Amino acid sequence: MVILLNKMYWRFFYKILSLIDPETAHNLIIKIIKNGFLPKIKTKSIPLKVMDIKFQNPVGLAAGFDKNAETINQIHKLGVGFLEVGTITVFPQEGNPKPRIFRLPEDKAIINRNGFNNDGLTLIKNRIKDFRKNNKRSNIKLGINIGPNKDSSDRIKDYNKLIHAFAKYADYLVINISSPNTPNLRKLHSDKNFKNLIISIKKEINKIKICPPILIKISPDLSNIELEKIIKEIVKHKLNGLIISNTTVKRNIKSKYKKETGGLSGEPLFKESTKVLITAKKILNDFGSHISIIATGGVYDGKSAYIKILCGADLIQLYTGLVYRGPFVVKNILDQLDRYRKRDNIKNWENVRGLAKSINQANKIVENGLNKKT
Ligand SMILES: Cc1cc2nc3c(=O)[nH]c(=O)nc-3n(C[C@H](O)[C@H](O)[C@H](O)COP(=O)(O)O)c2cc1C
Repeated sequence: MVILLNKMYWRFFYKILSLIDPETAHNLIIKIIKNGFLPKIKTKSIPLKVMDIKFQNPVGLAAGFDKNAETINQIHKLGVGFLEVGTITVFPQEGNPKPRIFRLPEDKAIINRNGFNNDGLTLIKNRIKDFRKNNKRSNIKLGINIGPNKDSSDRIKDYNKLIHAFAKYADYLVINISSPNTPNLRKLHSDKNFKNLIISIKKEINKIKICPPILIKISPDLSNIELEKIIKEIVKHKLNGLIISNTTVKRNIKSKYKKETGGLSGEPLFKESTKVLITAKKILNDFGSHISIIATGGVYDGKSAYIKILCGADLIQLYTGLVYRGPFVVKNILDQLDRYRKRDNIKNWENVRGLAKSINQANKIVENGLNKKT
């Protein structure tokens, strides 16, 4: 696809895409990638080890972009270090009625209320199985994000079935309790429900011989007290990490779509999700825990990615940034991160992770450099 190769033409291609309904445009992009029409974009290698997994670089694609694991053979061409597929449910699911995705260009944001539309466990597992069989040397790491069916009578059982099915194939597994588009799903954050969920998951994990790291994907709309209770359980039960965060139901935006229900992602989510990241990092430090954090929400360039790292992120994910910045977004982030690395003389990202205690402080480091007084 020459169009995607040339930066100059991306704007033109994006203009065309933006005339099409967002979901149709998304499906078209998935087809382009899946059928191998995406040329390889050469990116900087920024290798790092997180959760004992070797990543080629810290930037990945967030869940929801490839819900059905259709692009796993090809997505490395974008330069990402990892892809998180899903959210996958036990049974295939249509999701909510369309239209259910809204572009908000003036806010550089998206509202979606998809409702876990996906091909279901069996079909997706076969795709991933094939990928594992035929791509033994693939460098891309694969996260598998799971959730319950909307009409499931036992949601915890759904998570356990999905853990059982995918443990063998995932580099890491994500328990998604934070989509605002499955009624009452977010109630799993509440103290008693969360405890029950974690205890049950732990029992399931203990039955499996090899289990990859398990992370919990949380909402950005939690109070500090709710966050602390969740982290306490995660640490107590020795789960491996957090994804901070899913989309928000808050609306600090201008768009005419602001009244549409669903989760808001993109630039307006940056501050919200980064605040939760900072608080989570502080709580983890207080508990003396070093579990990993994947930060997502409003990352679209090197600066926003560096801020996430300074505020405590081990890895970074994006989705909306890809929609607005195009296929070179990952390359640009990695180039810029590498420039910050050189400027600030960073030998190991661990040395700067969580260094900033506020977004303001992180901003100052990004603007002035690490060695200047912040
Ligand atoms: C259209 C769309 C669909 C999404 N679907 C899922 C999903 O199925 N599961 C999930 O955990 N997150 C889903 N997300 C949330 C993203 O994974 C991510 O957490 C969020 O968009 C914040 O990142 P961003 O600002 O870079 O987009 C979706 C986001 C968008 C925009």
